Amino acid sequence: MSYNFIDLFAGIGGFRTGFEKNEFNCVFSSEIDEHAGEMYHANYNETVFKDITKIDEKEIPNHDILLAGFPCQPFSIAGEKKGFNDTRGTLFFDIQRILKEKKPKAIVLENVKHFKSHDNGNTLKVVLNALNELGYTTSWKVLNAKDFGVPQNRERTIIVGSLNGIKFDFNKLATQEPIYIKDILEDDNGQIEYLEENDYTIIENQKKQSSGLIFAGYRNKKIRTKGTRPDTLHLSRVHKQPNRIYSSNGTHPTLSSQESSGRYFVYHNRKVRKLTLKECYRLMGFEDDFKLVGSKAKLYNRIGNSIVIPMVEEIAKQVKNQILNKTDDIIKCKKPIKQISLFDFINEKLAG
Ligand SMILES: C[S@@+](CC[C@H](N)C(=O)[O-])C[C@H]1O[C@@H](n2cnc3c(N)ncnc32)[C@H](O)[C@@H]1O
Repeated sequence: MSYNFIDLFAGIGGFRTGFEKNEFNCVFSSEIDEHAGEMYHANYNETVFKDITKIDEKEIPNHDILLAGFPCQPFSIAGEKKGFNDTRGTLFFDIQRILKEKKPKAIVLENVKHFKSHDNGNTLKVVLNALNELGYTTSWKVLNAKDFGVPQNRERTIIVGSLNGIKFDFNKLATQEPIYIKDILEDDNGQIEYLEENDYTIIENQKKQSSGLIFAGYRNKKIRTKGTRPDTLHLSRVHKQPNRIYSSNGTHPTLSSQESSGRYFVYHNRKVRKLTLKECYRLMGFEDDFKLVGSKAKLYNRIGNSIVIPMVEEIAKQVKNQILNKTDDIIKCKKPIKQISLFDFINEKLAG
């Protein structure tokens, strides 16, 4: 059975690819960023609708499932307060008005890990209350990309809602054995950027952290010496994320949407090298034939904003099994209404 979805805050289509791999069909996409729109067109041959706040919900095609990796914004109201218009002025309000009009059978929302604690938990509470008010049964969990076969420690809050009363069970998601940075590196084709030996320091006793990361060393960038205690000078370098170097035998930290220079350095075969753009896209589960158009800076921003495809694929599979197929079963099980003509009705009555 094939289901239709809409791709809101679509970015470069991470959600879309994961759902399409499970034979879902995209019927509408919205994305405001010009460059993301160009990449979307290059890869899916589809022109996105731009600002979602300007789109009338009645114009959006009917769909079975709404997907949205929406930006995290605070609400001025407290979680307990109810009322459809309470969230007006936020991008979540646009999701709400589409749900109210279109009533898709299921929804999947994605946000950053700290969404659950954002504004002391109020943001999540408002979102869940609003979805419940619209008839959705919700569940949520923080998932980590490294559990889905990509070597990136990337935690994201996922909310799944269903209109048929089924509570999505995150425990049914199939997880995979970890793989490491070295498993996704390109062969050295002469294009790899290496650091000079005196540009970095490699530490002894490299240990794998519970996140899977192995901190291997740091770039010898200028440090702030004023007011620093003796023997702690290196710490001011280490504490800057773009100075850190991780071992290729471990997991990579979260790729950031703020990092437009691609300062991701790994220690591999006793040398320090920068990850290539292709490797960054692999760290999010994009295939090598995914078309990268535009400047390097924009391509780094886009990938840091996206969602890890193998994780989405698994969510899509379970949403289909747990919610959508079940919704169809419920509809099939309902006794069909017997339709009789007026002639038969009168005859039945006369026959007593
Ligand atoms: C966290 S990203 C989602 C990325 C996406 N999941 C992907 O795989 O690339 C949020 C996206 O929302 C877009 N956005 C923000 N405001 C918007 C608006 N008013 N209308 C449409 N898109 C918007 C941003 O440009 C950004 O690409």
